[in-house]
Amino acid sequence: MSKNCAIILAAGKGARMKAGINKQYIEIGNKPVLYYTLKAFADSELIQEIIIVAARSEIEYCRKEVVEKYQIDKVSKIVEGGRERQDSVANGLEALNECDIVLIHDGARPFVNERIIEEGIKYADKYGASACGVKPKDTIKIKGKEGFSKETLKRDELFCVQTPQIFQYELILNCHKKLKKENISVTDDTMVAERYGYKVYLYEGGYNNIKITTPEDLVICRGLLDKLLT
Ligand code: CTP
Ligand code: MG
Repeated sequence: MSKNCAIILAAGKGARMKAGINKQYIEIGNKPVLYYTLKAFADSELIQEIIIVAARSEIEYCRKEVVEKYQIDKVSKIVEGGRERQDSVANGLEALNECDIVLIHDGARPFVNERIIEEGIKYADKYGASACGVKPKDTIKIKGKEGFSKETLKRDELFCVQTPQIFQYELILNCHKKLKKENISVTDDTMVAERYGYKVYLYEGGYNNIKITTPEDLVICRGLLDKLLT
C-alpha cells in the first residue's frame, strides 16, 4: 500500500477576510476552521501523516489551540510557511520524507470529505496528478480595459479548481524545485505541474468544498456546518 501524506496550508494572512486574525483560527460551531479541515484528514484511513504549514508567529498557537486541544492524530510536524502560497507548499514538501502520494490542501477549506480524498488518491496514483473542482455556475467573461466585456468563455469547458490537489510525491517535489529557480508566481499546484509538462486529471469536488476567503463565506460556512457536520 502507498504512503499518503497531507500538507495542510495555514500560513496565509487572510487579507481578503479582514478578520484581524488568520481565517483558519476563526471559530465556526465553537471550533476553529482548521480543526474541521484537519479532522477530515486525520479521520481518513487512507492518510498516514499530516504536515501543517503555519506562519512562524502562529506555530505554537496552532500546536496548542488546535492540534493538542482537539487531539488531532497523525500530525508529524508544524513547519513554517513562506511569503507566497507556493513557498509554503515547498516548505511542506521538503519536510516530508518517505511519501508516495501527497495531498495538498487549503486549511481554509473545512468541508473536504472522504470521497474527495479517496478519489484524489486513486487518480493521482493512476495519472500522477489530480485535482478536484466544480463547474462554474456563472457565465465567465474576460473583462477588458475600460470595463467592457471582451469575450465570453464556453462554460461547458470551464472548471473551478479546488483543493485537495494530489500528486505523486517525487513528481511535485521536483516541479517545486524547478519553480524555485524561476521567478514566476502561481496560484495553485496544478499550475506548477502543468508548467513542467504534466497533465492533471480533474475530478468532481463539491459545491460544499468552499474556501473561506471573504467575510460572507463565513455565513455560508456556518450554514453548511449545520447541514453537514452536526
Ligand atoms: N497560504 C499559505 N501561505 C501563504 C499564503 C497562503 O499557507 N503564503 C494558505 C492560506 O492559509 C490558505 C490557502 O493557502 O489556507 C489558500 O490561500 P488564500 O485563500 O489566498 O489565503 P490567504 O492568502 O490567507 O488569503 P488572502 O489571499 O486573502 O490574503
Ligand atoms: Mg492568498
